[in-house]
Amino acid sequence: MSLPILPTISTSCIVISAIFVAIGWSLIRQRKIEQHMKVMLTAAIFALVFFIIYASRTIFIGNTSFGGPDSIKIFYTIFLIFHITLATVGAVLGIISLWTGYKQRYSFHRKMGPFTSIVWFLTAITGIVVYLLLYVFYHGGETTSMIKAILGT
Ligand code: HEM
Repeated sequence: MSLPILPTISTSCIVISAIFVAIGWSLIRQRKIEQHMKVMLTAAIFALVFFIIYASRTIFIGNTSFGGPDSIKIFYTIFLIFHITLATVGAVLGIISLWTGYKQRYSFHRKMGPFTSIVWFLTAITGIVVYLLLYVFYHGGETTSMIKAILGT
């Protein structure tokens, strides 16, 4: 089985990023502030690498449409939109978390940190599922522009 190189690297980046967030959370529970910050920054760098690969693929190559049976295409599409929504919300929350941490607005940061982390975990899990459905369980359909890939036309 041959897997496409760029989606494999970018999906791995989200998963690695989520693992770093989990480590960062456990560090702050042990009150290790400096290490918490470094690990969360590393998580952010992996998320950024994911985004750069994903965005350049979208712009220069296009996105891949679902290649599985028509009967489950609608479920794939709904799931994909759910994943994209989580990723977008996670990115915004992530930037706010980095900012409030950096600015030492800890009472706010402490409230939103766990929420941000959970959204990011769900982004990674749903991202793996999208990847499996698109490239492992079924062969990817044609690679086309973003809007067409989402709508599956
Ligand atoms: C510049 C980066 C960051 C710094 C300097 C920083 C700093 C801190 C500090 C000092 C605390 C303890 C606050 C307190 O107990 O009063 C904290 C808590 C926390 N932060 Fe961060 N943080 C950063 C980035 C992030 C990011 C990006 C996330 C999530 C993705 C995050 C998630 C959390 C979580 C889950 C807690 C624990 C809340 C709790 O259970 O009490 N942090 N952070």
